[in-house]
Formats: sequence, C-alpha cells, structure tokens
Amino acid sequence: MIAPNFRRFLEHAAMGFALLLSFLWTPNAWAQTLIPIYTNSNALVLQVDTNKEVNIIYFGQRLTLEQEYKQVTRQDHPLEDYSRMFASAYTTSGTRNLLEPALSVTHADGNNGLHLLYQSHKRDAVDGNITLTSVVLKDPMYKFWVTLYYKAYANEDVVEQWSTIRHQEGKPVLLAKFASANLHLKSKAYWLRHYHGDWAREMGTEELPLTHGIKVLDSKLGTRTDLFQPPLFMVSLDKPATEEEGEVLLGSLSWTGNYRIDFEVDPQDNLRILAGMNNYASTYTLKPNQDFATPPLVYTFSSKGRGLASRNMHDWARNYKLIDGHGSRLTLLNNWEATYFNFNEQKLAMLIQDTKKLGVDMFLLDDGWFANKYPRNWDNAGLGDWTENRKKLPSGIGYLIKEAKVNGVKFGIWLEPEMINPKSELYEKHPEWVVKQPNRPEHYFRNQLVLDLTNPNVQDFVFGIVDGLFTKNPELAYIKWDCNAVIYNAHSPYLTNQSNFYVDYVRGLYRVLQRIRAKYPKVPMMLCSGGGGRMDYGILEYFTEYWPSDNTDPLERVFMQWEYSYYFPVIASSNHVTEWGKQPIKFRTDVAMMGKLGFDIVINKLNDMDLAYCQGAVKLYDSVKHVIWHGDQYRLTNPTKDDVASTIFMDKNKTNGVIFTYLVNNRFGRGSMRPIMLKGLDPALRYRIKEVNLYPGTTSHITGSATYTGDFLMKVGFNPAVSFERSSVVLTITRV
Ligand code: DGJ
Repeated sequence: MIAPNFRRFLEHAAMGFALLLSFLWTPNAWAQTLIPIYTNSNALVLQVDTNKEVNIIYFGQRLTLEQEYKQVTRQDHPLEDYSRMFASAYTTSGTRNLLEPALSVTHADGNNGLHLLYQSHKRDAVDGNITLTSVVLKDPMYKFWVTLYYKAYANEDVVEQWSTIRHQEGKPVLLAKFASANLHLKSKAYWLRHYHGDWAREMGTEELPLTHGIKVLDSKLGTRTDLFQPPLFMVSLDKPATEEEGEVLLGSLSWTGNYRIDFEVDPQDNLRILAGMNNYASTYTLKPNQDFATPPLVYTFSSKGRGLASRNMHDWARNYKLIDGHGSRLTLLNNWEATYFNFNEQKLAMLIQDTKKLGVDMFLLDDGWFANKYPRNWDNAGLGDWTENRKKLPSGIGYLIKEAKVNGVKFGIWLEPEMINPKSELYEKHPEWVVKQPNRPEHYFRNQLVLDLTNPNVQDFVFGIVDGLFTKNPELAYIKWDCNAVIYNAHSPYLTNQSNFYVDYVRGLYRVLQRIRAKYPKVPMMLCSGGGGRMDYGILEYFTEYWPSDNTDPLERVFMQWEYSYYFPVIASSNHVTEWGKQPIKFRTDVAMMGKLGFDIVINKLNDMDLAYCQGAVKLYDSVKHVIWHGDQYRLTNPTKDDVASTIFMDKNKTNGVIFTYLVNNRFGRGSMRPIMLKGLDPALRYRIKEVNLYPGTTSHITGSATYTGDFLMKVGFNPAVSFERSSVVLTITRV
C-alpha cells in the first residue's frame, strides 16, 4: 500500500518527467522559429514552438550571437509548468492556462475558451532607428485574432508593446480582460518600486520585494486616474538597482483611464507582468470586424542601474512623444495662488506688467475668468460656461492679450473643458451630456461632474471651446488643461452598453486632443489634473509639459521631482515658485529651475532684494535652460539617503552643465560633508566650476578660478559646500 502523499509525489514526478521528455524529444525542438525584438542593448525573444504556441524565452541584455537564444531554455531546470504556458507571450484563459491571463473572452456562442496559435509575423523598419514587429495569433477553433505589436527604438533602448484584438464571429464577443502586454522575466528575486499619493502628496515611493502571488497596481477613478497611484513602475532583478548598478525594467502604461498592472511571481519563481486598461466594470463588447487596440506599455531595460534607464526614457520622450520635445518652453507668471478667483481686469493688467518686470515670457490666467449666469467666483459654479465673465473682464480676453503684447509678453489661459458644475447654464441646457446615474443622487468631486466624452456631440463641444478661443484670439499662446474630478456614478446617457464606458471615455478624450493637435500642432499646453492626477504618455503626446503637483513646497518638490524625473524629462516638468514651504526664495527658485520655471507669487509684495534675486534668476535660467531641458540628467546624491540632494544636467557633448544641490536635513551641522562625485563628464576634459544664482549681497568662494579634469571630478568629486547657511547651491560647469 503506497501512502497517498507518496503516490501524489510519484504522479507529479512522472508527469514532470514526461513533459521534460516530450520537450527534449520533440522533432526540431531546437529549430523552432525565433522572433527576437532588439534594441541596441537588449533583446526580448519570442519562440514559436512546434505546436505553434508563442512563448517568451528571453528578456534581458542582448547576446552577441543570435543563434544562442535557442539554447537559453536548455539552461533552465524549472519546476513543473503543467500548462506549458507560464511563459506565454500573450496568456489566454478558459483553456490550459492556470495563471493570470492577458486576455479573457466570451465568444459569440457563449464559450469562454480561447487559445491562440502563431499565424505569421513580420518586421517593418519604420526608419533607421525604429522597428515594428507584429505577430499574428489565431484561435484554431474560432475566427478570432490577436496581433501583438513590439515597437523597438534601438538607440533609446525603449520598447512600446501593445495588442489589437479582432474577430469575425458573426455576433459580438465580450472581452473580460484585455491587457496590452505580457512580459516574463527570470531572476532570483524581483523588487518593485511604485508610487502612491493623493492631492499634494504625489509620488510617494515604495520599493518592496515581490513575493509569490499577484501584486496589482491599478486605478478605478475614471478620470484623474493617477490621484492615488500612477501607472509608473520599476522592477529590479535580484536586488534593488541603484543609480549606476543593477538590472532594472522601468515602465509606464500609456493610458489616461483606469489601468491595471499585474506582477505575478509564478510557481516557477519567474515574474509575469501583465499591463493594460483595467477590466474593472468594463467587460467590453466587441463587434465583428472591429479592431480593439490596447494602449502601449512603454518600457526600457537597463543593466547599469536606474540612471541609465531614466536617460533612455528621457531621450525617447523628447525624440518621439512630447510635443516639441527638442524645442523651447515659455517661462511664466501664473495668477492662481496670487489671486485665486478674486481678480478683475485692472488687477490682471497689473500682473501682466509684473510679468514683464520679472522678465518671464508669459502671463498665465488661471481659473475664474468665465461664466455669467453662475459666475465662476468659487469652484462650485460656472464650469462649462466658457465665456468671459463680464463683471471681471468687461473688455474680454482680447483686451488682456493686447495688454500682454504692449508689455512684450505672451498670454496663456486655464481651461477645464471636460468638466461641468451642476450650477451652470451648460447643465441646464444639456443634462444629457453629464456622466451620472439616472436614478441616483449626484455625488460631486470638487463640486463638479464629468462631461460624457463618449458622446460625439460632447467631443464637438469640448473641441469647440478650444477652437473657439483660438479663432477669436489667434495670439493666445498657451493652454493649461486641468481635470479636477474623478468619475462617480459611472453611467453614460449616450452609450447603450455601459460596460464600454470607461474605455470609450478615454478614447473620446483622445479624439478631441487629436483634433486640437491637427489644427494647432505646436501651441504649448500644460497637462494638469488637480496637480499630478494624470501622468502617462498616452496623453502627454498631446502636451508640452505637465503639472506635477499643487504642492510646490520646495523641500517636498526635491523628493517629488526626483522620482518623477525617472519617467519624464524635466523639460516637461512645470515647476512654479510659490509661497508654499518655509525655504527662502532662492531655495524655492533653484528647485523650480530643475525643469520648466514659472512663478505664482505676488511680485509687488516682494522686497527689493527678493525681486532683484528673482529677476537675476530668470536671466540666469535663460542662459542655462537649454542644458537642463535637453541635456543628460545624472542624479548624484539621493535625498532619501543623504543630507543633500544633488543633480547634474550635462549637455550631450559633455562640455557644459548645471549642478543643483540642496540641503534636505535641517539637523545641526548637516551639509555636504564629503565631495559629491560628479557624473556624465569626459574624464579627459578640463572643467571650470562656478557658483551662480547667488542671492544679492552674498558672495561665493566657488568663483570658477580653479579647474579640474573630468577624471578628478568623477573620482574625487567636488564639494559645493552646502550647509544651513548655504542651503541651496547652483553651479555651472564648463569645459575650459
Ligand atoms: C487645480 C490646479 O492644479 C491648480 O494649479 C489650479 O489651476 C486650480 N486647479 C484651479 O482651479
């Protein structure tokens, strides 16, 4: 009599052995089709096995010999994979799968099983740098296809990965889960770095080892979806990567709606990552012959730490995503915190003069300029009624634009066109344009509701607001596009199928933005969402910059901007000097300079010294902004680990740069005790370092008279002498 446990052991062992034999002895097992997706340094390799199933066999640094990828799996001696699809390139459900699926469907005949086999693949060279690989999969039992897309940017080491889903089943198919990407990584351990927050608390950072089971990052907020958690993450292999060392995958989902990213450590101790739109309350009805395109997961893999990964992402974003990524940006004076809703024409005319006095490029008029029947004097009225408030602005926006012109500055304006206050004429006229449950009480976020962008009439309306403003005011130079509410009571009066709502809302939003960009391709626009409630490349491709947070306390910003900067180049980071925080104006301004500089303070309340400092800072910024925006960013000392935070921006030729260093620990005697090792220099070149942006009346011993080789500065370092008395130091570094 064999004990049941022992019998089970024998059964398992026999099954595992049989699987191993079948794998080793399958004819042509080693001659199966490989589909490598290469960037300059990395490879993701798919393999079509003899059963036509497509699996991921390799993800990591590129090998020298392509034929050696075929031998990769020989080196693995994993525990059993009963389904033989743990490493599937796109995991389906309802057939053999035992793990988290990328795609779950109910076919037109009510059957839930999906199995995808290889049909074809091709590789198209989009240009000298970009290759688009597509792999067509089909269910042998159904007229159901999935195409996997891998767009590889060789020089940037970035891949965008997504899928399209299509069928010809005669009647609609239900998609219950529909991920963009399915990855499979192998390591001893996996460390996930991800973010959490709320209003004014964006980019709270957590890094933890992934354990078996599934860790999910997601959002169910509908709009302003990243309020609690943005779709940004890093996975380090083996141990947490540092700035310069370790293997790390840095990724983000390009989708401005509900998203879901699953990190599953599987029974073989491998990591499966499934990322895409969230299927929460969103079983999607897909009609025959329609393409359902999922949004790209964008990622870069670095075997030299987080710093390189972030620079790859920056290059990619500036080259391919951001509007005018290699262009310029407008410095500005914003009136939000200077006036809130309380202003009139005279006050604004004064602020426009202050804009000139300060020396920035543009005045940005914020919330509160519109609506008459229900004037926008607070956040509880007027949203939706986009005509100038006659009491505040009797001469209209045109007058303000003229005033700006007279003062030699540009004029920009705030909009929140996706939203509506119940107290508005728009609501009275079009209650059917509002997202809400028909038979339940309304529930408000910041006293407002969301317009139903699934409705083409609403899309026309939102496009018309922007178009109308530009048509009437062709010299309008800039838009700050805000989005303050999440979606409660998700229900579209327009859609017949409510489960399509969350997905179709975002598609409607993109349609509007595409129309705006088709007509106004270059106009700078800031992506704002009550702070950083929208942080993804799906929407950033329509914008020149983003608003990281309403929290502009510079000490907070040192940490927040540090973390944002892994994912987004600082040319896109709108940083305003405000009254938040306890730091002196120099500290506040220096921090705001690490990005796109703006001000939101009352200029005429500044004392003479502060004003002179700000004016000088704007001039200095104008001379160094190009290296900050377009150079390479290296993080030198980490504020979470050190008393000082230090970052250098170096131009691509390694000849000019700017170094920012801040005291982040106010305990007695803290400061830059040791020299800071510089990075990104040419060891053979000689550099001069000079302190700039000094507060009037102060001097510095770092005068630029001494010179050092790059070798010295990267091995011995340089001490900016940051201390309580010198809590913020800006240095320029120039090739001699
Ligand atoms: C939220 C934004 O983050 C602020 O900068 C400001 O524009 C307000 N909305 C205006 O209502």
